[in-house]
Amino acid sequence: MENSLKKHIDRDKLPRHIAIIMDGNGRWAKQKGNERIFGHKSGVKAVRETVEAAAELGVGYLTLYAFSTENWNRPRTEIDALMSLLVTSLDKEIDNLMENNIRLEAIGDIESLPNKVKSNLRQAIRKTSPNTGMTLILALSYSARWEILDAMKSIAKKIESGELTAKEISCDHFTDQLQTHNIPDPELLIRTSGEYRISNFLLWQIAYAELYFTQTLWPDFGKEDLYAAICNFQKRERRFGKISEQVVS
Ligand code: FPP
Repeated sequence: MENSLKKHIDRDKLPRHIAIIMDGNGRWAKQKGNERIFGHKSGVKAVRETVEAAAELGVGYLTLYAFSTENWNRPRTEIDALMSLLVTSLDKEIDNLMENNIRLEAIGDIESLPNKVKSNLRQAIRKTSPNTGMTLILALSYSARWEILDAMKSIAKKIESGELTAKEISCDHFTDQLQTHNIPDPELLIRTSGEYRISNFLLWQIAYAELYFTQTLWPDFGKEDLYAAICNFQKRERRFGKISEQVVS
């Protein structure tokens, strides 16, 4: 595309890890006079485009919030439809992941997912594990508080067994207990659909992430939207608590 924002992206300053709260599928479908699940189905195309664009640019890690712990409270029909969509998408997209050298991982309470989702997910993770390009992380049945509590329980057990003392617990130690222990923190967090919330997503890991909110509803999100978010990220001064002069020098 001639006017693509892609050419404005500095490949040496890409966010190493991008995390996305994909929101607005239901509203998108409603606007078109359709059932909510039509929005989720259309959201899969946006997932494909975004994953391909990020991998092609050279982004190291992309995390997608596909199903939260709180999403289990949705109507049963919507949950079932989302789970079937995950099963078919994992099946269909595996060749695409292989072609693009993408490694799949998952975070969340994977055990709580239906068996067919679990088996397709495990198969896709196993098959893509030798890939060396971008790591795509699906957050499924995920919530940050759940993850943090789980990490706390692991630490408490180590204290109980005498392996660790309370004094010894450091940020690094805590980070090591999280599901994301082998993944760098997100540098850019994108949320679609004009909502300004974090919704229990990666609360520990986004401490210094740049936040980017767009009005675009998830099914309409495409490559150019990703490029726009990255261009915006690259214009920001990341100070990590320091002053501007320190960062510039
Ligand atoms: C949020 O929109 C979206 C979800 C809860 C599900 C996201 C799932 C997909 C995009 C499809 C499957 C994903 C993969 C990775 C293959 P919403 O339903 O909350 O929309 P609303 O706020 O307009 O109601």
